Amino acid sequence: MIKIPHHIENLWPYKAGKSISELAREKGLKRIVKLASNENPNGPSPRALAAIRQALPQSHLYVDPGAFELTQAIAKEFGKRPSQIVCGHGTDAIIEYILVAFSDAGDEVLTSQGTFIGIYVNTNKLGRRLVALPLKNYAFDLEAIVKSGTEKTKIIYLANPNNPTGSIFTRTQFDWFMSRVPDYVTVILDEAYCQYCENEPEYPNGLEYEYDNLVVTRTFSKAYGLGGLRVGFAAGPERLISAISKVKLPFEPNHLAQVGALAALTDYEFLKLTQIVNERSIRQFEEGFDRLGISHIKTYCNSILLLLPNEQFAEQFFLRCLDRGLIVRHVKSFGIPEGIRINSGSDEDTEFALEVITNVYPKLKEEFSQGNVIKNEACIIHQSE
Ligand SMILES: Cc1ncc(COP(=O)(O)O)c(C=O)c1O
Repeated sequence: MIKIPHHIENLWPYKAGKSISELAREKGLKRIVKLASNENPNGPSPRALAAIRQALPQSHLYVDPGAFELTQAIAKEFGKRPSQIVCGHGTDAIIEYILVAFSDAGDEVLTSQGTFIGIYVNTNKLGRRLVALPLKNYAFDLEAIVKSGTEKTKIIYLANPNNPTGSIFTRTQFDWFMSRVPDYVTVILDEAYCQYCENEPEYPNGLEYEYDNLVVTRTFSKAYGLGGLRVGFAAGPERLISAISKVKLPFEPNHLAQVGALAALTDYEFLKLTQIVNERSIRQFEEGFDRLGISHIKTYCNSILLLLPNEQFAEQFFLRCLDRGLIVRHVKSFGIPEGIRINSGSDEDTEFALEVITNVYPKLKEEFSQGNVIKNEACIIHQSE
């Protein structure tokens, strides 16, 4: 009989759920708004779309394994050498490659609770030992992370801004942190959402650093609007980038992803629009939540985290929003059971979401205070992280 390794046997399998159209049919809803996966409400970069259309006829050809043009362009854009960049099938895949390249089975991956699920899944899948420390005030506790490292710690994962809290750590905090991390530990600095806070004076732009043990990851899934194409990159010292390049699949990112990302990279007009729409939506949400008395975390991201009284409240909140056609994210699986994450939307979707929440929240609060909550039937729908 085939023996399935213990760490694979114990992985939580992917749960396929109801599709949005199925949900609409079942609940008789005319409108469904999904603000649950931190996607770009403006769609893909139009320049990327045009480039992809043009590139379609070459789809029978294998891609250049080094993603030559894209790598060159990224290096130029961010002031790096091409040998300091490797492109892959999204940040999620790149994180896996970093773990494969710089740690062995049984080594420890040190991070925080309440951060991007991809690091937990990859660590468990590869049989590394996950050490996830509590958040401090819903943000990474860099001091605790430094103190908790052992000789088994080979990787530290940080997300800045963090998902799902939207919090950031500052340049001063990051400098302090890097000066204390041993040089045999690879630090992954995940900057999936950096474009949403690049104007914050205290935000540390990871690509401006040159540490021998720092790998910065970025994605085209968020601000560039290309989540469905699956493309991201890692930047770091040549020695580490060369090792990551050895373990990645040769023909990733795929042809259309490379072409789309190349065009999106310098679509500054689209990036500006993304920032403006995000800022407007987040401000509207903040005002709305303040009006309703819902506590939330200050965000530097394209999403905002609501803190509800407890897990049951958050679960009911999620289900009742769903009943009215609004899909948000209950972030229990990230380690924040009382949290609901909602991402920024177009003006219309933001308005719709606030309308739904204005209907749901006060009533639910009232029911909870009286202790007579009517439970909705649980309903899983497909959500990416
Ligand atoms: C912090 C963070 N990193 C990485 C990703 C995934 O990026 P990609 O789509 O490039 O795999 C996400 C997705 O939600 C994220 O929140």
